[in-house]
Amino acid sequence: EQINKGRYEHYMQKEIHEQPESLTTTMRGRLIQGGSCKATTVLLGGLKDHMKTIRRSRRIVFVGCGTSYNAALAARPILEELSGVPVTMEIASDLLDRQGPIYREDTAVFVSQSGETADTLLALEYALENGALCVGITNTVGSAIARKTHCGVHINAGAEIGVASTKAYTSQIVVMAMLALAVGGDTISNQARREAIVDGLYDLPSKVREVLKLDNEMKDLAKQLIAEQSLLVFGRGYNYATALEGALKVKEVSLMHSEGMLAGEMKHGPLALVDENLPIIVIATHDACFSKQQSVIQQLHARRGRLIVVCSKGDAASVCSGGSCRVIEVPQVEDCLQPVVNIVPLQLLAYHLTVLRGHNVDQPRNLAKSVTTQ
Ligand code: AGP
Repeated sequence: EQINKGRYEHYMQKEIHEQPESLTTTMRGRLIQGGSCKATTVLLGGLKDHMKTIRRSRRIVFVGCGTSYNAALAARPILEELSGVPVTMEIASDLLDRQGPIYREDTAVFVSQSGETADTLLALEYALENGALCVGITNTVGSAIARKTHCGVHINAGAEIGVASTKAYTSQIVVMAMLALAVGGDTISNQARREAIVDGLYDLPSKVREVLKLDNEMKDLAKQLIAEQSLLVFGRGYNYATALEGALKVKEVSLMHSEGMLAGEMKHGPLALVDENLPIIVIATHDACFSKQQSVIQQLHARRGRLIVVCSKGDAASVCSGGSCRVIEVPQVEDCLQPVVNIVPLQLLAYHLTVLRGHNVDQPRNLAKSVTTQ
């Protein structure tokens, strides 16, 4: 077991740090260089016979639980943008509780690291009964979800042992970004955007390697937060998912109460919680939502909020101009890939908080790696 952890003390730590390699493996053989462009074709072999059906679907429904749901949420905007098909989100258990509508004209995409999660599997059976085209995105060859879906993509992130999903999350987002490129197809109108995303995908492992250098800074932040009862994380747009996933990581391993929230909802209730003691992480990297996040930061400053801001490199001074805050600067990448970079410091924070608080990193209490019961 120790050998498998290599130079790391815990699997979660190892899996966080091997993300540059797992992302490279996820993309290997799938970005096909063509003509004068660096890469224009995305090849997802398992989907090639179904691409027409996916493009013509009335809607695409993402289904998953926990981190896998969050990964789909991060990919939703780019899939909507490039495909023009409406994309809706379903937490597997909630879809089953509601017996929500699934139609023959739908493509239902089941996202699961293990491929064995009971809620997701039952939701898949429900969607099959309702006649939808069912696509699996899993990390486990031969898993129940991989076998029962009509077609799918393997994320190739390598075995993930830590109960807290880290490298599978970033590889899931990358697979779904590639899915968006594949479904979107090659049109003149989206050519520049496609090329920017493809370039961004090529650069992503090195950007993640760069952001992993924040390890000591995140350890230092964890020392500051070690005795806190609670933590909020605000995000929006592409990084609403980052807020949910960052908070999930912190709560499941460090056992600190933590909530991810949509920043646009802040003034509709959560603002009442803000004081000088409660730590609040705001994700404010540079994208179309940046000015809105700046105004959120101003509003939190006005209430003397205790802020930790994740921003793009070079934005530190402007992002916190109205008050004091701790800034974590990350490399900027194409907006739809930014959640891959932005989650890394939060994974590191969750890891260090857990070690410092003396909890079990790889086997958090009450949790199992794969939830095979309803
Ligand atoms: C992730 O850190 C969690 N342990 C959990 O939310 C997990 O993502 C969820 O149970 C879904 O698992 P799956 O991806 O294997 O389906």
